[in-house]
Amino acid sequence: MPNLEKNTATAEPPADTTGLGEIERGGARVTVDEKRMINARADVNQLLPLKYKWAWEKYLAACNNHWMPTEVSMQADIALWKSPDGLTPDERRMVMRNLGFFAASESLVANNIVLAIYRHITNPECRQYLLRQAFEEAVHTHTFQYIVESLGLDEGELFNMYREVPSITDKAAWALNHTQMLENADFRTGTPETDREFLRDLVAFYVVFEGMWFYTGFAQILSLGRRNKMVGIAEQYQYILRDESIHLNFGIDVINQIKAENPHLWSKAFQEEVRTMLRDAAELEAAYGRETIPRGMLGLTAELCEQYMRFIANRRCAQLGLAPVYEPTENPFPWMSETMDLKKEKNFFETRVIEYQNGGALSWD
Ligand SMILES: [Fe+2]
Ligand SMILES: [Fe+2]
Repeated sequence: MPNLEKNTATAEPPADTTGLGEIERGGARVTVDEKRMINARADVNQLLPLKYKWAWEKYLAACNNHWMPTEVSMQADIALWKSPDGLTPDERRMVMRNLGFFAASESLVANNIVLAIYRHITNPECRQYLLRQAFEEAVHTHTFQYIVESLGLDEGELFNMYREVPSITDKAAWALNHTQMLENADFRTGTPETDREFLRDLVAFYVVFEGMWFYTGFAQILSLGRRNKMVGIAEQYQYILRDESIHLNFGIDVINQIKAENPHLWSKAFQEEVRTMLRDAAELEAAYGRETIPRGMLGLTAELCEQYMRFIANRRCAQLGLAPVYEPTENPFPWMSETMDLKKEKNFFETRVIEYQNGGALSWD
């Protein structure tokens, strides 16, 4: 099924970029040089020879991090949640909105991988990682089902928050805006316009959704865990954070590789556009913080979440080779930074993380 209408990178005839087209009987064997992130002409069904070893290594690391939410005990959380004064009303609101944001977001991220990203990535080792990531997003969605069931939460309330809580809706709608064009069956990469459309989707989902918004979400729950509250959910969030840090870094590597192979796409104007996306995303997160933590609690306020988002936005800019979008900002949650930056192999809650390692290091990037 030839589906590259206009391939600006080469004058050769269109290639099968899905892997489901006619078999090229007796076609030449794939060489590493022919492999490309997008718009490749090489057969996408041949994993070997590997070109992007970083993608394969992330696939192996992800497999080593296998975990299931049902392995985490929820007894302490259930006791605290059911106790009338176990948590303050503000803490309860924060927990519910945080769970509501993540519950739908995991599905949005999974749908984006399967329905938008996968068919346009023309590299088998990256597709291998995407298949693993898609499974992990299913495990994350399972986590929220398990939490709802354990705590006896209102499932309709939780899973509808992305449609009913304006600041959560605004974030989801912003991200969906960047995937809707790709979801169209007629969409093809291969022109500067459509290749940039693909990059926008990667930025919106990998850098913003998983790499910015999820991080304030982790900070909120982990700060409760540090005060010995909702320790089961906090432990599950540690596992999700470990997974998401690889998702984020995979996305950054994919974007940087596409840049390297297609330098014409990364124009000054497009760089400015990406910086604007990151700035807009940080503002959306600030609004969510105000709606989620209107009064603040011990060690956690909407202002601190906004500051953390600015700090993270600048870091993401640096990872993409962009100028920072904010003045240098101090990290208000240094305990998050320590955990991630120093790649500590120990769990700061003294729970059972170490036991879950299937031979892989517990690292947080
Ligand atoms: Fe996830
Ligand atoms: Fe993810």
